[in-house]
Amino acid sequence: MTDISTSHGERMKRRVAILISGRGSNMAALIEGARGTDFPAEIVLVLSNKPDAAGLDRARRAGIATETIDSKPFGKDRAGFEAAMQTVLDANGIDLICLGGFMRLLTNAFVDRWSGRMLNIHPSLLPSFRGLDPHGQALRAGVKVSGATVHFVTPEMDAGPIVMQGVVPVCDGDTPDVLAARVLTVEHRIYPAALRLVASGAVRIEGGVCRITTTTCGDDTLIAPR
Ligand code: GAR
Repeated sequence: MTDISTSHGERMKRRVAILISGRGSNMAALIEGARGTDFPAEIVLVLSNKPDAAGLDRARRAGIATETIDSKPFGKDRAGFEAAMQTVLDANGIDLICLGGFMRLLTNAFVDRWSGRMLNIHPSLLPSFRGLDPHGQALRAGVKVSGATVHFVTPEMDAGPIVMQGVVPVCDGDTPDVLAARVLTVEHRIYPAALRLVASGAVRIEGGVCRITTTTCGDDTLIAPR
């Protein structure tokens, strides 16, 4: 990413669009997290491919501009849908995209165009449990910890360079919904934190993995079951 500075030498905030399809709880966490004056990014746009996405109202109430590009009329014309999105993204001078429960497959061309500038959150500890029903997959595998991953988007689904992960225990008796709710709490913590790192320029991708210059490795251990 190129550095953008004002004539006073201050770093300009990265302009972020959040793409949603549903309730937008990660969107809300990003909006809240980015409120601080020292946050290196500002959320300037929430874009939904579903006109009835609950997150749209939530974004408006938070004072964020919203746009809807209904993907339904485009049918299988993914390139046409993405061209419409790209026009809106360009019009808003977007530097970075955060996918927040955006349930629409993107073409390789769109992903390549936003290479290194598009983040996603997935509710598992990638590379485990990619794709659909990650919590069901985790429960069936009997893992004792799960979590969430913020990663750069690459053409292969849920496989891009990992920026940050957060871990929660998996408890006996968990259902997919119970585990999803526990993982969601950690999603809301790591997505703003990961965006902060990326927008501040602290993350570089080397050989398909993220190297992060400004953080230290913590020594927290989570053992489950206790
Ligand atoms: C989140 O749990 C997110 O990790 C997941 O969809 C949910 C959206 O919730 N994303 C994926 O599964 C992507 N593969 P939200 O609309 O409340 O942020």
